[in-house]
Amino acid sequence: MNLLDGKLVSAKIKEDIARDAAAFTAEAGRRPHLVAILVGNDGGSETYVASKMRNCELVGFESTNIRYDVTITEAELIAKIQEINADAAIDGLIVQLPLPKHIDPDKVTEAIDYRKDVDGFHPINLGRMQRNLPCFIPATPYGIMLMLAHYNIETAGKHAVVVGRSNIVGSPMSILLARNSNPGNCTVTLTHSRTANLKEEILRADIVVAAIGKKNFVTADMIKEGAVIIDVGINRETSETTKSGFKLYGDVDFDAVAPKASWITPVPGGVGLMTIVGLLKNTLEAARGTIYAK
Ligand code: GUN
Repeated sequence: MNLLDGKLVSAKIKEDIARDAAAFTAEAGRRPHLVAILVGNDGGSETYVASKMRNCELVGFESTNIRYDVTITEAELIAKIQEINADAAIDGLIVQLPLPKHIDPDKVTEAIDYRKDVDGFHPINLGRMQRNLPCFIPATPYGIMLMLAHYNIETAGKHAVVVGRSNIVGSPMSILLARNSNPGNCTVTLTHSRTANLKEEILRADIVVAAIGKKNFVTADMIKEGAVIIDVGINRETSETTKSGFKLYGDVDFDAVAPKASWITPVPGGVGLMTIVGLLKNTLEAARGTIYAK
Protein backbone atom coordinates (compact mmCIF):
# COMPACT_ATOMS: atom_id res chain seq x y z
CA MET A 1 0.00 0.00 0.00
CA ASN A 2 1.19 3.51 -0.87
CA LEU A 3 -0.15 6.71 0.64
CA LEU A 4 -1.54 9.48 -1.55
CA ASP A 5 -0.13 12.17 0.69
CA GLY A 6 -2.25 15.31 0.56
CA LYS A 7 0.02 17.11 2.98
CA LEU A 8 3.08 16.66 0.80
CA VAL A 9 1.40 17.34 -2.56
CA SER A 10 -0.61 20.35 -1.35
CA ALA A 11 2.48 21.94 0.21
CA LYS A 12 4.39 21.52 -3.05
CA ILE A 13 1.62 22.96 -5.24
CA LYS A 14 1.04 25.84 -2.79
CA GLU A 15 4.69 26.84 -3.22
CA ASP A 16 4.10 27.14 -6.98
CA ILE A 17 0.89 29.13 -6.39
CA ALA A 18 2.68 31.51 -3.97
CA ARG A 19 5.39 32.16 -6.57
CA ASP A 20 2.81 32.81 -9.30
CA ALA A 21 0.77 35.01 -6.97
CA ALA A 22 3.83 37.13 -6.20
CA ALA A 23 4.45 37.59 -9.92
CA PHE A 24 0.81 38.60 -10.45
CA THR A 25 0.96 41.06 -7.55
CA ALA A 26 4.17 42.64 -8.85
CA GLU A 27 2.63 43.14 -12.27
CA ALA A 28 -0.94 44.07 -11.36
CA GLY A 29 -0.15 46.13 -8.27
CA ARG A 30 -2.70 44.20 -6.23
CA ARG A 31 -3.06 40.69 -4.85
CA PRO A 32 -5.47 38.02 -6.18
CA HIS A 33 -8.63 38.47 -4.09
CA LEU A 34 -11.09 35.80 -2.95
CA VAL A 35 -14.35 36.62 -1.15
CA ALA A 36 -16.16 33.88 0.80
CA ILE A 37 -19.72 34.38 2.02
CA LEU A 38 -20.77 32.34 5.03
CA VAL A 39 -24.40 32.29 6.18
CA GLY A 40 -25.20 31.04 9.69
CA ASN A 41 -23.11 29.15 12.21
CA ASP A 42 -22.62 25.62 10.89
CA GLY A 43 -19.51 24.32 12.69
CA GLY A 44 -18.11 22.43 9.69
CA SER A 45 -18.65 25.36 7.32
CA GLU A 46 -16.96 27.77 9.75
CA THR A 47 -13.91 25.52 9.90
CA TYR A 48 -13.73 25.12 6.11
CA VAL A 49 -14.09 28.84 5.39
CA ALA A 50 -11.51 29.74 8.05
CA SER A 51 -9.10 27.28 6.43
CA LYS A 52 -9.75 28.72 2.95
CA MET A 53 -9.08 32.26 4.20
CA ARG A 54 -5.92 31.21 6.07
CA ASN A 55 -4.56 29.44 3.01
CA CYS A 56 -5.29 32.46 0.78
CA GLU A 57 -3.14 34.63 3.04
CA LEU A 58 -0.46 31.91 3.14
CA VAL A 59 0.04 32.02 -0.63
CA GLY A 60 -0.17 35.82 -0.80
CA PHE A 61 -3.81 36.34 -1.80
CA GLU A 62 -6.16 38.86 -0.25
CA SER A 63 -9.15 37.18 1.41
CA THR A 64 -12.42 38.57 2.69
CA ASN A 65 -14.94 36.62 4.71
CA ILE A 66 -18.43 38.12 4.69
CA ARG A 67 -20.68 36.65 7.37
CA TYR A 68 -24.45 36.81 7.62
CA ASP A 69 -26.92 35.68 10.21
CA VAL A 70 -29.25 32.80 9.16
CA THR A 71 -32.06 35.36 8.94
CA ILE A 72 -30.67 37.00 5.77
CA THR A 73 -33.16 36.80 2.91
CA GLU A 74 -32.40 35.27 -0.48
CA ALA A 75 -32.89 38.70 -2.11
CA GLU A 76 -30.40 40.35 0.26
CA LEU A 77 -27.82 37.65 -0.40
CA ILE A 78 -28.26 37.92 -4.16
CA ALA A 79 -27.99 41.73 -3.99
CA LYS A 80 -24.61 41.33 -2.25
CA ILE A 81 -23.47 38.82 -4.87
CA GLN A 82 -24.38 41.28 -7.64
CA GLU A 83 -22.38 44.00 -5.89
CA ILE A 84 -19.33 41.71 -5.77
CA ASN A 85 -19.84 40.66 -9.42
CA ALA A 86 -19.44 44.33 -10.36
CA ASP A 87 -16.33 44.91 -8.23
CA ALA A 88 -13.25 44.70 -10.45
CA ALA A 89 -10.97 44.36 -7.41
CA ILE A 90 -12.51 40.97 -6.51
CA ASP A 91 -11.43 37.97 -8.58
CA GLY A 92 -13.24 35.02 -7.01
CA LEU A 93 -16.46 34.58 -5.04
CA ILE A 94 -17.70 31.52 -3.19
CA VAL A 95 -20.85 31.09 -1.11
CA GLN A 96 -20.27 28.30 1.37
CA LEU A 97 -22.85 25.50 1.22
CA PRO A 98 -25.13 24.31 2.71
CA LEU A 99 -27.37 27.38 2.92
CA PRO A 100 -30.39 27.75 5.23
CA LYS A 101 -33.56 26.10 3.89
CA HIS A 102 -35.25 29.39 2.89
CA ILE A 103 -32.46 30.16 0.38
CA ASP A 104 -32.37 28.31 -2.95
CA PRO A 105 -28.75 27.24 -3.59
CA ASP A 106 -29.36 27.00 -7.35
CA LYS A 107 -30.55 30.62 -7.54
CA VAL A 108 -27.52 31.74 -5.51
CA THR A 109 -25.10 29.73 -7.65
CA GLU A 110 -26.52 31.17 -10.86
CA ALA A 111 -26.36 34.71 -9.46
CA ILE A 112 -22.56 34.50 -9.24
CA ASP A 113 -20.76 35.78 -12.33
CA TYR A 114 -19.40 32.57 -13.91
CA ARG A 115 -16.07 34.38 -14.45
CA LYS A 116 -15.72 34.72 -10.65
CA ASP A 117 -17.22 31.29 -9.85
CA VAL A 118 -14.04 29.71 -8.50
CA ASP A 119 -16.13 26.90 -6.96
CA GLY A 120 -17.00 25.86 -10.52
CA PHE A 121 -20.66 25.32 -9.56
CA HIS A 122 -22.27 27.65 -12.12
CA PRO A 123 -24.02 25.78 -14.97
CA ILE A 124 -21.76 27.54 -17.51
CA ASN A 125 -18.65 26.15 -15.81
CA LEU A 126 -20.24 22.71 -15.43
CA GLY A 127 -21.27 22.66 -19.10
CA ARG A 128 -17.84 23.79 -20.24
CA MET A 129 -16.20 21.15 -18.05
CA GLN A 130 -18.34 18.46 -19.64
CA ARG A 131 -17.24 19.71 -23.07
CA ASN A 132 -13.55 19.72 -22.01
CA LEU A 133 -13.36 23.52 -22.50
CA PRO A 134 -11.39 25.93 -20.26
CA CYS A 135 -13.43 26.53 -17.09
CA PHE A 136 -13.32 26.55 -13.30
CA ILE A 137 -13.40 22.96 -12.07
CA PRO A 138 -15.02 22.29 -8.66
CA ALA A 139 -12.28 22.38 -6.04
CA THR A 140 -12.52 18.86 -4.61
CA PRO A 141 -12.59 16.96 -7.94
CA TYR A 142 -9.89 19.34 -9.21
CA GLY A 143 -7.74 18.57 -6.17
CA ILE A 144 -8.21 14.83 -6.70
CA MET A 145 -7.15 15.11 -10.36
CA LEU A 146 -4.03 17.04 -9.27
CA MET A 147 -3.26 14.29 -6.76
CA LEU A 148 -3.66 11.53 -9.38
CA ALA A 149 -1.45 13.52 -11.76
CA HIS A 150 1.23 14.10 -9.12
CA TYR A 151 1.59 10.38 -8.42
CA ASN A 152 1.27 9.43 -12.10
CA ILE A 153 -1.60 7.09 -11.31
CA GLU A 154 -2.63 5.37 -14.51
CA THR A 155 -6.30 6.03 -15.21
CA ALA A 156 -6.77 5.42 -18.96
CA GLY A 157 -8.92 2.34 -19.57
CA LYS A 158 -9.47 1.79 -15.85
CA HIS A 159 -12.85 1.24 -14.30
CA ALA A 160 -13.63 4.03 -11.83
CA VAL A 161 -16.54 3.75 -9.44
CA VAL A 162 -17.71 7.01 -7.88
CA VAL A 163 -19.86 6.55 -4.78
CA GLY A 164 -22.19 9.53 -4.33
CA ARG A 165 -23.69 11.88 -6.96
CA SER A 166 -23.50 15.27 -5.23
CA ASN A 167 -23.20 18.45 -7.28
CA ILE A 168 -20.03 19.32 -5.38
CA VAL A 169 -18.06 16.08 -5.72
CA GLY A 170 -19.57 12.87 -7.15
CA SER A 171 -21.22 14.26 -10.26
CA PRO A 172 -18.31 16.47 -11.47
CA MET A 173 -15.82 13.73 -10.50
CA SER A 174 -17.58 11.25 -12.78
CA ILE A 175 -17.37 13.75 -15.67
CA LEU A 176 -13.66 14.48 -15.12
CA LEU A 177 -12.64 10.83 -14.89
CA ALA A 178 -14.53 10.01 -18.09
CA ARG A 179 -13.13 12.94 -20.11
CA ASN A 180 -10.60 12.43 -22.86
CA SER A 181 -7.69 13.80 -20.83
CA ASN A 182 -4.93 12.72 -18.50
CA PRO A 183 -5.86 11.88 -15.78
CA GLY A 184 -9.12 10.65 -17.29
CA ASN A 185 -10.22 8.19 -19.97
CA CYS A 186 -11.76 5.97 -17.32
CA THR A 187 -14.88 3.88 -17.76
CA VAL A 188 -17.00 5.42 -15.02
CA THR A 189 -19.82 4.02 -12.92
CA LEU A 190 -21.61 6.68 -10.86
CA THR A 191 -23.38 5.05 -7.93
CA HIS A 192 -25.84 6.53 -5.44
CA SER A 193 -28.48 5.73 -2.84
CA ARG A 194 -30.69 3.90 -5.39
CA THR A 195 -27.92 1.77 -6.89
CA ALA A 196 -28.69 -1.95 -6.79
CA ASN A 197 -25.87 -4.27 -5.64
CA LEU A 198 -23.58 -1.44 -4.58
CA LYS A 199 -21.00 -3.81 -3.10
CA GLU A 200 -20.68 -5.70 -6.42
CA GLU A 201 -20.29 -2.42 -8.32
CA ILE A 202 -17.49 -1.20 -6.03
CA LEU A 203 -15.81 -4.64 -6.18
CA ARG A 204 -15.31 -4.12 -9.94
CA ALA A 205 -13.47 -0.84 -9.43
CA ASP A 206 -9.82 -0.19 -10.24
CA ILE A 207 -10.35 3.30 -8.78
CA VAL A 208 -12.88 4.07 -6.04
CA VAL A 209 -13.93 7.62 -5.18
CA ALA A 210 -15.95 7.54 -1.95
CA ALA A 211 -18.02 10.73 -1.50
CA ILE A 212 -21.13 9.84 0.47
CA GLY A 213 -20.52 11.44 3.85
CA LYS A 214 -20.90 8.25 5.92
CA LYS A 215 -18.16 7.23 8.33
CA ASN A 216 -16.37 3.99 7.34
CA PHE A 217 -19.05 3.18 4.73
CA VAL A 218 -16.64 1.47 2.31
CA THR A 219 -15.36 -1.73 3.90
CA ALA A 220 -12.63 -4.20 2.92
CA ASP A 221 -15.09 -6.76 1.49
CA MET A 222 -16.13 -4.20 -1.18
CA ILE A 223 -12.59 -3.63 -2.48
CA LYS A 224 -10.73 -5.43 -5.29
CA GLU A 225 -7.10 -6.25 -4.52
CA GLY A 226 -4.83 -3.46 -5.82
CA ALA A 227 -7.52 -0.78 -6.19
CA VAL A 228 -6.76 2.95 -5.88
CA ILE A 229 -8.86 4.44 -3.07
CA ILE A 230 -9.81 8.12 -2.92
CA ASP A 231 -11.62 9.01 0.29
CA VAL A 232 -13.52 12.31 0.14
CA GLY A 233 -15.32 11.86 3.47
CA ILE A 234 -14.86 14.43 6.23
CA ASN A 235 -17.14 13.08 8.95
CA ARG A 236 -16.73 15.08 12.17
CA GLU A 237 -17.39 13.52 15.55
CA THR A 238 -16.82 15.10 18.93
CA SER A 239 -13.82 13.68 20.74
CA GLU A 240 -12.27 14.16 24.14
CA THR A 241 -8.82 13.10 22.95
CA THR A 242 -8.14 15.87 20.37
CA LYS A 243 -7.24 19.50 20.92
CA SER A 244 -10.00 20.75 18.59
CA GLY A 245 -12.64 18.64 20.33
CA PHE A 246 -13.35 16.84 17.05
CA LYS A 247 -12.04 13.80 15.26
CA LEU A 248 -12.37 13.30 11.50
CA TYR A 249 -13.37 10.03 9.84
CA GLY A 250 -13.38 9.20 6.15
CA ASP A 251 -16.02 7.35 4.14
CA VAL A 252 -13.57 4.44 3.91
CA ASP A 253 -12.63 2.06 6.71
CA PHE A 254 -8.94 2.93 6.26
CA ASP A 255 -7.35 0.34 8.56
CA ALA A 256 -9.17 -2.58 6.93
CA VAL A 257 -9.07 -1.31 3.32
CA ALA A 258 -5.46 -0.04 3.18
CA PRO A 259 -3.79 -3.50 3.05
CA LYS A 260 -5.80 -4.33 -0.13
CA ALA A 261 -5.21 -0.97 -1.83
CA SER A 262 -2.35 -0.07 -4.17
CA TRP A 263 -2.82 3.62 -3.28
CA ILE A 264 -5.04 5.26 -0.69
CA THR A 265 -5.72 8.75 0.69
CA PRO A 266 -5.73 9.20 4.48
CA VAL A 267 -8.33 11.24 6.40
CA PRO A 268 -7.26 13.77 7.50
CA GLY A 269 -4.24 14.59 5.32
CA GLY A 270 -5.65 13.53 1.96
CA VAL A 271 -8.36 15.01 -0.25
CA GLY A 272 -9.32 17.83 2.15
CA LEU A 273 -5.97 19.54 1.72
CA MET A 274 -6.16 19.11 -2.05
CA THR A 275 -9.57 20.82 -2.14
CA ILE A 276 -7.94 23.98 -0.84
CA VAL A 277 -5.31 23.73 -3.58
CA GLY A 278 -8.04 23.44 -6.23
CA LEU A 279 -9.71 26.59 -4.91
CA LEU A 280 -6.43 28.52 -4.76
CA LYS A 281 -5.53 27.52 -8.32
CA ASN A 282 -8.94 28.64 -9.58
CA THR A 283 -8.63 31.97 -7.75
CA LEU A 284 -5.20 32.60 -9.25
CA GLU A 285 -6.55 31.82 -12.73
CA ALA A 286 -9.50 34.16 -12.11
CA ALA A 287 -7.10 36.96 -11.18
CA ARG A 288 -4.89 36.35 -14.20
CA GLY A 289 -7.85 36.12 -16.55
CA THR A 290 -6.40 33.07 -18.26
CA ILE A 291 -9.65 31.09 -18.36
CA TYR A 292 -11.99 34.01 -18.99
CA ALA A 293 -10.32 37.18 -20.26
CA LYS A 294 -10.82 40.21 -18.03
N1 GUN B 1 -19.54 22.92 1.01
C1 GUN B 1 -18.85 21.76 0.98
N2 GUN B 1 -17.88 21.82 0.03
C2 GUN B 1 -17.96 23.05 -0.53
C3 GUN B 1 -17.23 23.70 -1.55
O1 GUN B 1 -16.30 23.17 -2.17
N3 GUN B 1 -17.63 24.97 -1.84
C4 GUN B 1 -18.66 25.58 -1.21
N4 GUN B 1 -18.98 26.82 -1.57
N5 GUN B 1 -19.37 24.99 -0.25
C5 GUN B 1 -19.01 23.73 0.09
